[in-house]
Amino acid sequence: MRPYVLINSAVSKNFKLAKADRKQLRISNEEDLKEVDKIRAKVDAILVGSTTLKNDDPSLTLKHEKGKNPIKVAISKDCNIKEDSDFLKGDEEKIIFTTRIASPEDINRIKKHAAVIQHRERVDINELLGELGKKGIKRLLVEGGGKTNYEFIKADAVDEIRVAISQIEINEKDAPNFIEGEWKDRFTFVSEKPLGDMTIKQYKNDDRYMRLALEEAKKCTPSKKYFSVGAILEKSGEIIGTGHTREHENDHAEETAISKTKNPVGSTLYTTMEPCTKRKSKTSCCVESIQKAKIARVVFAAKEPDTFVKCEGEEFLKKNGISVTQLKKFEQEALEMNKHILTALHKN
Ligand SMILES: NC(=O)c1ccc[n+]([C@@H]2O[C@H](COP(=O)([O-])OP(=O)(O)OC[C@H]3O[C@@H](n4cnc5c(N)ncnc54)[C@H](OP(=O)(O)O)[C@@H]3O)[C@@H](O)[C@H]2O)c1
Ligand SMILES: [Zn+2]
Repeated sequence: MRPYVLINSAVSKNFKLAKADRKQLRISNEEDLKEVDKIRAKVDAILVGSTTLKNDDPSLTLKHEKGKNPIKVAISKDCNIKEDSDFLKGDEEKIIFTTRIASPEDINRIKKHAAVIQHRERVDINELLGELGKKGIKRLLVEGGGKTNYEFIKADAVDEIRVAISQIEINEKDAPNFIEGEWKDRFTFVSEKPLGDMTIKQYKNDDRYMRLALEEAKKCTPSKKYFSVGAILEKSGEIIGTGHTREHENDHAEETAISKTKNPVGSTLYTTMEPCTKRKSKTSCCVESIQKAKIARVVFAAKEPDTFVKCEGEEFLKKNGISVTQLKKFEQEALEMNKHILTALHKN
């Protein structure tokens, strides 16, 4: 499986990464630097793009946190890297992804300091992630610049975005954008918080896990007595529980997914149908199990039709401080697999 991919950047008020000269510019405040260090300490590898490597020459090591430095990864189109660069310093493993334009001399020179993997005209992001996955990298932090960030977005390979927005104004038209292309349609805005004089916004790509929840739902034996529902419980990019309706006795998909983990606190539950507040087969309901498990966020595809009972899961969860998102683009697919129930209902 490919690593969980998180993009993190510090940007100006209008989401620029630097000035038009593309020289390194300090945008983060002290608080952000410390928080980013904590994120770096929890990933297996950090990646930067060609221009960032050349212009910023980041050392990508932990500054405040103790612990092992992550593996350093860079895309360097031409592999023309200075041997005394900060990026190549240190004992951590280093991996350079390069392309056909790199000269054999440069590749051999850099091979003394790092593993060099040569792709064709461009570095293929999915292949790169496959290669990092094989090396045991489970979490990858992408620290841009904007073109590189967009390469990962285009490959549909980004799970989460954290952006630290400062008060700085950069009005030059040619200044690099945080992500050099459209990205917002694929992401759900999850949270916003102040951090000193900056604002931290977090976005998540929920599609990947909802698709897995739909796959889970397909494992149900279709029945006219209950809906086919699938659920995935995700925490920090790891799937910690899966479930489908009646996988365990009379249990609902959500309960089964929760039952498979010891530590659901702070996780996100993806379910193909809104969690229930009432049911015919039991006195307890899924929203109570979600609350008890201290799940932070619930993402669902379809509202539960009033076929068996009338549920108000979304309202209940929101009232109890749990963040809820409906992914309407998957609604039809979640209902389609229950059409044997819904069509019978329309006939009556
Ligand atoms: N504030 C922050 O948090 C932050 C973080 C990082 C960087 N920065 C700033 O961002 C600026 C750099 O951003 P940028 O967008 O210009 O550069 P970048 O993303 O670092 O690098 C872009 C270069 O990488 C190449 N590249 C990207 N993906 C590739 C792939 N899959 N295969 C082959 N080549 C690939 C591009 O080639 P093509 O042109 O051929 O596509 C281009 O030459 C710098 O000013 C840096 O200081 C700021
Ligand atoms: Zn339920």
